[in-house]
Amino acid sequence: MDLAKEISRLKQEKNAVILAHYYQIPEIQDLADYVGDSLGLSRVAAETTADMIVFAGVHFMAETAKILNPDKKVVLPDLNAGCSLADSCHPDDFETFIKQHPDHTVITYVNCSAGIKALSDVVCTSSNAITVVNSIPEDQPIIFAPDRNLGKYIISKTGRDMKLWDGSCMVHEAFSLEKLNRLRELHPDAVIIAHPESESHILATAAYIGSTAGMIKYIKDQPEKKYLVGTEAGILHQLRKEVPGTQLIPLPVSENNSCACSECAYMKLNTLQKLHACLQDETPEIVLDKALQERALQPIERMLELS
Ligand code: 13P
Ligand code: SF4
Repeated sequence: MDLAKEISRLKQEKNAVILAHYYQIPEIQDLADYVGDSLGLSRVAAETTADMIVFAGVHFMAETAKILNPDKKVVLPDLNAGCSLADSCHPDDFETFIKQHPDHTVITYVNCSAGIKALSDVVCTSSNAITVVNSIPEDQPIIFAPDRNLGKYIISKTGRDMKLWDGSCMVHEAFSLEKLNRLRELHPDAVIIAHPESESHILATAAYIGSTAGMIKYIKDQPEKKYLVGTEAGILHQLRKEVPGTQLIPLPVSENNSCACSECAYMKLNTLQKLHACLQDETPEIVLDKALQERALQPIERMLELS
């Protein structure tokens, strides 16, 4: 069976839309109706007229789409497609953390569960984190969760008083500064760009820091250069399509890390076969408690209004 053809046929038959993150495998990115970063995907999810959303990404992304579309069916090719950042922050522990810091505004990075979003004042993504933080009155202290690296980066840019949750992304924390320095000697003309989920010693080397969509835009604006790319390797597929002649080198990772390469094992759980099966069988489906969905919706809507 020609899976790609069959997926297109089922998509039309069911009036479904396929949304994919830049970290998905190339075959999925090429089939998707929209490929984007977390903010772009949330925006498209908020506006879609499709009856069913097939979310080729990880669980928190599909869950965000469901929060925005409680009456639509949202399916994820593999329910085990989680996220180390989202897993680092359990709602019970986060509630305790909030109680320890009363009167703080709670800002959460979108890479978290619906339970965490429901405890938040406003959500942000890596595209709009600084805008969202700057929208809070200057004298107001902030809790930021779950990514400590993004949190530290925002503090360095805004000088704000922020209490950080101690979570991180295992992919972006795997980059090796030692290997990067060796690579810099080999490619002294290369421009380093990095995602803000990376550690501060990696960010300190970067000429540009931003979301996946921001990184693509940055390279497109000056395609004649050579780049060392500090994010999950799936982004290289989109970049090779958009800036074909540009030399792109993924940042090297350290050997003693759980990530053997700059790939997110969760994102890579989704395959074309699973995408086809979930479109055909309309499962696994994201199901949310109605009260939780309503509480989690407000901070997402606040973010969309701000960005
Ligand atoms: P963005 O695509 O929003 O930059 O997020 C990256 C990420 O870590 C997704 O898991
Ligand atoms: Fe989570 Fe990191 Fe994978 Fe993104 S790349 S889904 S933050 S584990």
